[in-house]
Amino acid sequence: MIHRLTILPEEICVPVREGETILSAICRAGFTYRFGCRRGGCAVCKVRVLAGDVAYERPIDASLVSEQEGAGGIRLSCRAVPTSDVVIALQSDDHLTIVNPWVSKLEQSFQ
Ligand code: FES
Repeated sequence: MIHRLTILPEEICVPVREGETILSAICRAGFTYRFGCRRGGCAVCKVRVLAGDVAYERPIDASLVSEQEGAGGIRLSCRAVPTSDVVIALQSDDHLTIVNPWVSKLEQSFQ
């Protein structure tokens, strides 16, 4: 099943394949944003999940996302896999950048 991922503040929507992480879906769709290790070790890729559900298919180190952050919807996007349509907000000082304009237009045309 494909889920729909909406990224704020740009309000860009990208498809998420079964088992795909938020980070992988955004990069596959031709965009990038601030991230680091891509494997749950640095916490640079934090996003806030505003709507919908995500799951961690691998455990994450509890020290990377505090209990308070977790309660506020903060997740590691390199590990969080949407299990429904999801709306996320990037960190306030971060933004989407188009890496591949052709791919990003193609991905969005399937929405
Ligand atoms: S990129 Fe390092 S924890 Fe996600």
